[in-house]
Amino acid sequence: MKDITIEQLSLMLKSKGEDSELIRKKANSLTEKIFGRNIYLRGIIEFSNLCTKDCLYCGIRRSNKNLERYTIEKEEIKEIIKKSYIDGFRTVVLQSGEVPVYDRDLTEIIEYTKNNFDMAITLSVGERKRKVYYEWKRAGADRFLLRIETTNRKLFKRLHPDDDFDLRLKSLLTLKELGYETGTGVMIGLPGQTYEDLAKDILFFKLYDFDMLGVGPFIPHHQTPLKDEKVIDFETVLNFIALLRLVTINTNIPATTSMATLEKEGREKALNSGANVIMPNYTPQKYREKYLLYDNKICVKEDESSTLKITEEVVKRAGKKLVKERGDRREKLLTDIPIDL
Ligand code: 5AD
Repeated sequence: MKDITIEQLSLMLKSKGEDSELIRKKANSLTEKIFGRNIYLRGIIEFSNLCTKDCLYCGIRRSNKNLERYTIEKEEIKEIIKKSYIDGFRTVVLQSGEVPVYDRDLTEIIEYTKNNFDMAITLSVGERKRKVYYEWKRAGADRFLLRIETTNRKLFKRLHPDDDFDLRLKSLLTLKELGYETGTGVMIGLPGQTYEDLAKDILFFKLYDFDMLGVGPFIPHHQTPLKDEKVIDFETVLNFIALLRLVTINTNIPATTSMATLEKEGREKALNSGANVIMPNYTPQKYREKYLLYDNKICVKEDESSTLKITEEVVKRAGKKLVKERGDRREKLLTDIPIDL
């Protein structure tokens, strides 16, 4: 897949039936060649739904006035992290809407975690100045997730009234330069997005050599301007994951919650199509219904004490093995590189 073209990728993204199965099988065998049957566990803690931005697709956008806003207090966040560690988690993802008010608290939470537990910290809190990213890195943060959402600049502009594509890319490059394992990703099936756009997304990830690629289907939220838009078929989502694996080879690719919302056993299918990470929700139940980025999000009624059990079942159904390790990005060995795909 070294010199694959946009046209070839677009065609493969459209595959159906046996053609799609073949691509997914190849992706799964490459995944197992690199990671064995191991699936790495990360717990997401959605610690605040405050947001200053108004992205058209998102349920916690600032214009959504029907939402009660919350921020979990820092001592409670520390307790949740501690609990996740006792449960066996070795990576937590701290996620929130985009608002700079808790930046100092985050530094304290990162220091607390790194001083007390042997675990990786991923931040997923949006764009900040280099200085802030630097402070968090110095405090011990390991990774950062910042989705580019789409690499089609026109579509990016239309969906993000407050954002600039080049600034988003600059933030991603700053994160890499500061030594974060850096993750990005896109939504699949955005209104107006083409197969060619999706093909270009995959080549963009390859070009910048991002470490983690979190992708999922766009799902309308009833309190957003995109409420009446259609969703994409799940086969395209699986093709996208499989091609991500085949093109980027040793990246960490999670089976995300949105996949299970669109399709029953969506995560199981993703874990058999190239995904090697699972990122279940570890937010306490009382906050979960206030963090609905899209409609019909799963596990809103569950609480964090059942997270591990549910996740173990998903991974088992997929015929894989859940491992409680940090799951840093694998170095690419020459022997990992497939000669013939
Ligand atoms: N459908 C699917 N994914 C969404 N996200 C936000 N809103 C939606 C939606 N309506 C995703 C974005 C964001 C991540 C945290 O959640 O990609 O980066």
